[in-house]
Amino acid sequence: MKPRIVLAGGSGFVGQLLSPFLVSKNCEVIVLTRAEPDHGGAVRNVHWNGKTVADWVEFVNGAYAMVNLTGRSINCRHTPENRREIIDSRVDSVRVLGQAIGRCAQPPQVFLQIAGVGIYGDKGERICDETTAPGDDFMTEVCQKWEAAFDSVDAPKTRKVLLRLGGVLGPNGGFLGLLGRLTRWFLGGQVGSGRQYISWIHVTDLSRMVLASIENQELTGTLNATSPNPVTNAEFVRELRRALHRPWSPPVPEFAARIGSWLMGTEASLALVSQRCAPKRFLENGFNFEFPTLRPALTNIFPSQ
Ligand SMILES: NC(=O)c1ccc[n+]([C@@H]2O[C@H](COP(=O)([O-])OP(=O)(O)OC[C@H]3O[C@@H](n4cnc5c(N)ncnc54)[C@H](OP(=O)(O)O)[C@@H]3O)[C@@H](O)[C@H]2O)c1
Repeated sequence: MKPRIVLAGGSGFVGQLLSPFLVSKNCEVIVLTRAEPDHGGAVRNVHWNGKTVADWVEFVNGAYAMVNLTGRSINCRHTPENRREIIDSRVDSVRVLGQAIGRCAQPPQVFLQIAGVGIYGDKGERICDETTAPGDDFMTEVCQKWEAAFDSVDAPKTRKVLLRLGGVLGPNGGFLGLLGRLTRWFLGGQVGSGRQYISWIHVTDLSRMVLASIENQELTGTLNATSPNPVTNAEFVRELRRALHRPWSPPVPEFAARIGSWLMGTEASLALVSQRCAPKRFLENGFNFEFPTLRPALTNIFPSQ
């Protein structure tokens, strides 16, 4: 029988790339989604509301692993209402998945929670590994509440692993969605000073990290899921322009980034904050990156641009 992997919130950008990877590794993939159930194709979509335990618990019972990708996108204006939804969607989903595990006769062997490097706040040039203290901005608050909810899950028979993701690079959206469009429109200049660091991960390496976290019985606790080579914003946009065959673009000063972000319905802080993260624990565990540096990662994603 194929090992069953339950992907809560697996209908989004990461889940859509992770599902075929897991299917190719001979796993049965179940996606928990607020959308209609759907039984066609290699991946089965099962309805849930992300808040309360219901029939979907039967798919958690006997599953090999549960991976939680749920969370309202942070790429929006951080109004009080959106802030509440950003936090609640994350905390509620962790809590209800913990309750579901508690109801299983055969609980999953591993519960893998996806979180973010936003917990470190704005750390400038300082290198952040898993032991670095949290920051003090809104994204830190989100990540702290998210991680605290996961810490509170009481599941003695289930191994718990949490991955702090950097910006995930992959085709068709995600971190490169808006940035790619702006760059194609000849608006791909550095933002602010350009010295703020971006921690990124190619989706292939992220998928391999997810699999390693599921398979490696020794792995527990928190790990940074980022490439070993974070780059400054200036370098990132230069490499992206190169990958998309666009010429130099004028820098975008901070005030213009704030106005532009507001007009596009998002937050400039997401592009101005500096996180220079190191995947210390993955490296200690012998993880081999397929895309450790940015240029080949972008060339892989935009091969014929
Ligand atoms: N992509 C990145 O670069 C990145 C970086 C760091 C951290 N992360 C984290 O990794 C996870 C996956 O990222 P992603 O890019 O795949 O996100 P995504 O495309 O926004 O997908 C997240 C999924 O969460 C579900 N969701 C959204 N709002 C919800 C709500 N209010 N209540 C319940 N479920 C809700 C949606 O599923 P349904 O609509 O089907 O229910 C959606 O498909 C997220 O938690 C994200 O914060 C991502």
